[in-house]
Amino acid sequence: MSLIEIRGLSFRYAGSEKPALSNINLDIEKGDFVLVVGPSGGGKSTLCRCINGLIPQFYEGEYSGKVVVDGYEAAKTPTYLLSQIVGMVFQNPQNQLFALSVEADVAFPLENLGLPRDEIISRIEEAMTMLNVQDLRDRSPFELSGGQQQRVAIASVLAMKPKILILDEPTSYLDPVSSLSLLNNIDEIRRKLGLTVLLVEHRVDLAAAKANRIVVIADGKLIFEGDHRKFFEEFDAHTFGVSTPKVTLLSRKLKARVKDWNMLCLSAEEFDQAVRRLVGRF
Ligand SMILES: Nc1ncnc2c1ncn2[C@@H]1O[C@H](COP(=O)(O)OP(=O)(O)O)[C@@H](O)[C@H]1O
Ligand SMILES: [Mg+2]
Repeated sequence: MSLIEIRGLSFRYAGSEKPALSNINLDIEKGDFVLVVGPSGGGKSTLCRCINGLIPQFYEGEYSGKVVVDGYEAAKTPTYLLSQIVGMVFQNPQNQLFALSVEADVAFPLENLGLPRDEIISRIEEAMTMLNVQDLRDRSPFELSGGQQQRVAIASVLAMKPKILILDEPTSYLDPVSSLSLLNNIDEIRRKLGLTVLLVEHRVDLAAAKANRIVVIADGKLIFEGDHRKFFEEFDAHTFGVSTPKVTLLSRKLKARVKDWNMLCLSAEEFDQAVRRLVGRF
């Protein structure tokens, strides 16, 4: 059984004529790092809300199909329970921060769970250290940079010790340097904790090489699911509103023109290795 099983999922928001999702079937395994891409309005955020039960529990509309997360049916499982399995981080960290200090923000959901004090303290320390915000503990979340705020928001979600982390465009308010640093940090934490990660991200160039699978959603439909190298090889990503990493475009050109070049690279590191291999032959 997969960690997340989505079967025949369709959803239409109340008042909308068109479904936001149509007949989605998808399995996500433990330890997967899934990159979710597609044009704006395609249904990516709606899919995230269905996995953590916000849809249909807090959004009105027409829902059909089934989402099962770690054996729990998302539509029927109380959110206090599901939030300990699926942690969700949104685009704008300010929407998730509200306490007077960083530490209080990370502690808040744990206090709501009624955990023992010692357990709360050790979880706060662990989460703040993983996201490298321990030195900001007494600061007001609202005087931090966007990158720092997003780290605090992720720390407060990880303190719940979820099995799955969903990040819905977490770098939208961040500059490229902070974005890369955040995505590296997420990847490192994923490996360390054995987390399953779903990342909705339009900065494909920064995220592609980290993920092991890509899911492309456009117009409410699942267009592609599988190996991202295959996606960039077989599809013209632009037609789905997905940007192709520059090194991928370059390695595609080389593949067409240079004998012995057979690698479609997704990151600068892969490109570097491919060049070294090629040079090593002469
Ligand atoms: N809260 C909402 N109420 C009504 N319609 C919505 C709501 N959120 C999204 N939609 C609609 O659902 C469709 C999918 O949106 P969304 O899941 O936000 O796409 P994406 O995250 O890929 O940009 C769009 O047509 C959008 O206008
Ligand atoms: Mg969205």
